[in-house]
Amino acid sequence: MSSRNQSSSLHKFKEILFSTMSSEELLNSLDSFSAREDDVFLVSYPKSGTHWFAKVIENIPNADITLTSPIELGDISKLEELKTYCKRRIIPTHLNYNMLPMDIKQKQCKIIYIIRNPKDTAVSLFHYYRDNPNLPGVETWAAFLELFLRGNVVYGSWFDHVLSWESHKNDKNILFIFYEEMKKDSSKSIKKITSFLDINVSDNEINQIAWKSSFREMKNNAAKENCDPNKTICVLTSNKNLVFRKGAVGDWINYFTSEQKRVFDELFTEKMKHSELARHFED
Ligand code: A3P
Repeated sequence: MSSRNQSSSLHKFKEILFSTMSSEELLNSLDSFSAREDDVFLVSYPKSGTHWFAKVIENIPNADITLTSPIELGDISKLEELKTYCKRRIIPTHLNYNMLPMDIKQKQCKIIYIIRNPKDTAVSLFHYYRDNPNLPGVETWAAFLELFLRGNVVYGSWFDHVLSWESHKNDKNILFIFYEEMKKDSSKSIKKITSFLDINVSDNEINQIAWKSSFREMKNNAAKENCDPNKTICVLTSNKNLVFRKGAVGDWINYFTSEQKRVFDELFTEKMKHSELARHFED
């Protein structure tokens, strides 16, 4: 038996599960969040590659930015702390569109929405659940997959999350970017990001960004930083060793049985029947 309780480390807010690291008081106050016009929001469903894309943005030369911790993590003092940053803020969040604070929508802040194949996302989240003491224990992959398909995991259903954002796919302040495209041609995806942020970079600089944010580099650096007590640990996750697992496309094939794939595909077809994003994930 897992020593961790299934539900004690999660709570529901507006029908969606959150870790207790997102205090209810903070979630309740998000609508009073005051955005700045030059804020950039890095939005994703968990385990879609947030750390990777954050590292890309951090490595853009002369960007003059600060990467903050996710807007919904912490207690109420977090909103005050966010006001203290002088540089352009890059703010990660896993919130769905409906929960995004109103001021961000009104000010039409730039938003980068990262999306990843849901089967790989599920496998990645399974490992994250297993290895992260702040999340409920899971016994088996099969048991976790059921939770994932029902949306009974942190930040709710992958389908609901993606669909909430897809309705705004053509808003000019929102860039959709795919984990798989970044894997295939990182220079092309990095160019998309820098031009969306109106920052000029040379081809040489793009190659440098791609190298510094490669899986190998990030994983090696994370291992070093986790061992260094003087180094501030990544703002996104307290233990970086939990983040850099395999960094691959298609790892799901090593986990899904043919029956699990059938059930998943059936739900995918049903939920995504009106979605233009579905074609990206045909296998
Ligand atoms: P896996 O568990 O499949 O390896 P997030 O940052 O949103 O928590 O996502 C974590 C996932 O992104 C993990 O997936 C992690 O390995 C992968 N990832 C992190 N950095 C990466 C990089 N530089 N290149 C490719 N994948 C990366």
